[in-house]
Amino acid sequence: MKRPVEIAKGVYSVGCRDWDLRDFHGYSIYEGTSYNAFLILGEKNILIDTVKAKFADQLLANISEIIDPKEIDIVISNHTEMDHTGSLLRVMHKIGEEKPVYCSKMGKKNIKSHFHRDLNFQVVGTGDELKTGDRTFSFIETKMLHWPDSMFTYLKEEAILFSSDAFGQHYSGDEVYDYEIGDAIMPHAQKYYANILLHFSPKVQALLKDVAKMNLKIAMICPDHGIFWKDNIAQIIDAYDKWSKQEPAERALVIYDTMWESTAKMGRAIARGVESENVKVKMMNTRRWHRSDIITEVMNSGAVIAGSPTLNNNIFPVVSDVLTYIKGLRPQNKIAAAFGSYGWSGEAVKYLNKEFEAMKMEIIDDGIRVQYVPEKKDLDICFDLGVKIAKALKEKCQK
Ligand code: FEO
Repeated sequence: MKRPVEIAKGVYSVGCRDWDLRDFHGYSIYEGTSYNAFLILGEKNILIDTVKAKFADQLLANISEIIDPKEIDIVISNHTEMDHTGSLLRVMHKIGEEKPVYCSKMGKKNIKSHFHRDLNFQVVGTGDELKTGDRTFSFIETKMLHWPDSMFTYLKEEAILFSSDAFGQHYSGDEVYDYEIGDAIMPHAQKYYANILLHFSPKVQALLKDVAKMNLKIAMICPDHGIFWKDNIAQIIDAYDKWSKQEPAERALVIYDTMWESTAKMGRAIARGVESENVKVKMMNTRRWHRSDIITEVMNSGAVIAGSPTLNNNIFPVVSDVLTYIKGLRPQNKIAAAFGSYGWSGEAVKYLNKEFEAMKMEIIDDGIRVQYVPEKKDLDICFDLGVKIAKALKEKCQK
């Protein structure tokens, strides 16, 4: 659909699609993304958020199709990460640098730190309102969802929640609304949650409860990335509730890498053991899967089984990379076990267990080490570990 698009009376989506992006600061994306920004016309014309710096001209061109950018009276910055403020100074230069910028206290600090200059900041917090003619904008601070400055803006009369990164998806398509793409958007939303918000799941739980208490009527949720939630608002809120609860799931994930196939053979035997108990299992080789896809599977799995050969007295570097990434996103409620082959020193399993300990995962076995190439008896032990993991997982899920 042609942009800009009027999504409610006098409310326009004026952001930009980044069709070609495949790497968003280390998060792999397969279908581009969008940087959504919103122009709301009224007694005061208001712009909510801007876009990545390189799309500034396109944003201004989109706005110019509706009004002269100089007619913008106020900018609201829901979030200061550069994909939403990268073109802020260009916009301010165009509309008039004296115009007010509404943002949270931390938003002001961040914008000043990014650009090393002052603007006409109007600091707002939860419960504050901006009334302009027949429009009312309420602000809800959402600290650490996912930055300290993050906030939502709620346009009362249209019941639109401008939710910044929350409920977003890295997806760039022709669609504007959820009903145009249907369930196919959910994997994008899920991967987005796993990579951006999983770390902050307790805060997501608290926010969902706070917003429920506010009894907000919500006709549409407009995140800063991807499609807008209109027909399936309950679906995405329920999904956030589920993902943020991090309840154990009856699925096991084998993350591994291998030098000469020995660790891979061990992993496959463990996976067969898991399956023999009718528990779902998936194997992900760390050189075949991107870390941002692996964390999405970690989020959906109750058991994380990591395998690594020993290389230079340590964990194989790619496995280490993935575990570091997983650790940063703090998945909860996982059981864990390690395995790996080695030639002469064999430290990898010990270090894998240390990583699990650091992640507060429940290690259910000391782990299996096999020197050089596993033989049948070794693979039988691996199979038995798979059975043990599956049984432990079923027990945990039934609690
Ligand atoms: Fe889409 Fe946190 O930026």
